[in-house]
Amino acid sequence: MKKRVGILISGRGSNMAALAEAARAADYPAEIAIVISNRPHAPGLERARQAGIKSLAIDHKAYPSREAFDDAVEAALRAEGVELVAHAGFMRIQSAAFATRWLGRQLNIHPSLLPAFKGLQPQKQALDAGVLISGCTVHFVTPELDSGPIIAQAAVPVHAGDSPETLADRILAAEHRLYPHALRLVASGAAWLEGGKVHLKAPANQPDFLFSPKL
Ligand code: GRF
Repeated sequence: MKKRVGILISGRGSNMAALAEAARAADYPAEIAIVISNRPHAPGLERARQAGIKSLAIDHKAYPSREAFDDAVEAALRAEGVELVAHAGFMRIQSAAFATRWLGRQLNIHPSLLPAFKGLQPQKQALDAGVLISGCTVHFVTPELDSGPIIAQAAVPVHAGDSPETLADRILAAEHRLYPHALRLVASGAAWLEGGKVHLKAPANQPDFLFSPKL
């Protein structure tokens, strides 16, 4: 049985589209049940509709508190029988109660090699720090921002003359390969959270793909 996945977005939704594309394969262990945006005009909502995926705007501004917004998201996820949640450019911090309730069942992608460069503008942070390699990370969501146990990472070179935008584009191409891979690991039961750590069943994390120069 394919795991039913809810994707949370706030913007353009290119990672959402990459997950949706991967999920079209008959042997992919997850299906996209719903895409939810906290921003009603997020381009990703239209993109989901065009891909034939149920989509819903839940405007956080319409709710009096973080908890009330999270409750609305919870109700929408439950109504679709969602078992796993994937954050894909979702720009809201969740209440600790929500994050704890979904612990081990919520993934996020972040465009840096965590634990370096958490939070906003990670590509600019990487350039300011002068690193020569950056990349992206898929991790389980915990109440603390960008800090959950790591499921998969991809390394991306920093080029001389990179701007935050050129680096972001290069990392984004890697994100679109890494996120479907990480969701597959979790949805198939090959990766799971236990005792605060990610456990992986052999065969382990495809190092050739994760460090491929083609990324
Ligand atoms: C991605 O770089 C993601 O890692 C970060 O926000 C960006 C979202 O892009 N959290 P998109 O909406 O998936 O195109």
